[in-house]
Amino acid sequence: MAASKSCLITPSILACDLANLQDEVDSVEKCADWLQVDVMDGHFVPNISFGALVIQHLKTKLPLDIHLMVENPEDRLEEFLALKVHNITFHAEVTDAEARQALIAAIHEGEATAGIALNPTTPLEAIDDVVRDVDLVLIMSVEPGFGGQEFLHDVLAKVQKFRKRFPALMIQMDGGITAETAKCCREAGANNLVAGSAIFGAKDRKKAIASLRKA
Ligand code: DX5
Repeated sequence: MAASKSCLITPSILACDLANLQDEVDSVEKCADWLQVDVMDGHFVPNISFGALVIQHLKTKLPLDIHLMVENPEDRLEEFLALKVHNITFHAEVTDAEARQALIAAIHEGEATAGIALNPTTPLEAIDDVVRDVDLVLIMSVEPGFGGQEFLHDVLAKVQKFRKRFPALMIQMDGGITAETAKCCREAGANNLVAGSAIFGAKDRKKAIASLRKA
């Protein structure tokens, strides 16, 4: 059972036509809940995407959700907190317990919510030390680095197990989420779905987002 009745839909700008970023964001402004910025450093993941510079002039009222797929998340906090983003998520795989506590404290001090992300093969137990301190857990349903990948159904069991243990925590899922896979994500207990290709690859963004909400 998901924590809240409705499921948030978070388009990922990784799948945008980046030559027309503002128009692309405008096209989801009225029907999305959050907007995700996938930050990739070419080290933690084999791809390089963008930093705060690319989004600092973006005009949107959507809460910005920063997904740091980077080896040194502590180096990126200042630039994004300065933009008054809503949420910053870092990866469990690049942090130890001490670093996580410091990151969560710094993100909260910067008046953003803090999320921790788990790659598909990283067990839930990896974040036992901070699960009560974060505001959301991001359970990846693809290996991070690229949009347009196939959804990994094995992660659903992880989501179900996590939802049973933590009925009130926001569980976000990201990767290969379409109208078909969105249904099983929600049934497993996810209440915030990130989608790039399924939304920005569609002509009718409003319809695409609606199909993820009640697929
Ligand atoms: C992977 C990225 C993608 C992106 C969404 O590192 O995080 O998951 O946000 O990609 P789609 O929805 O196209 O699979």
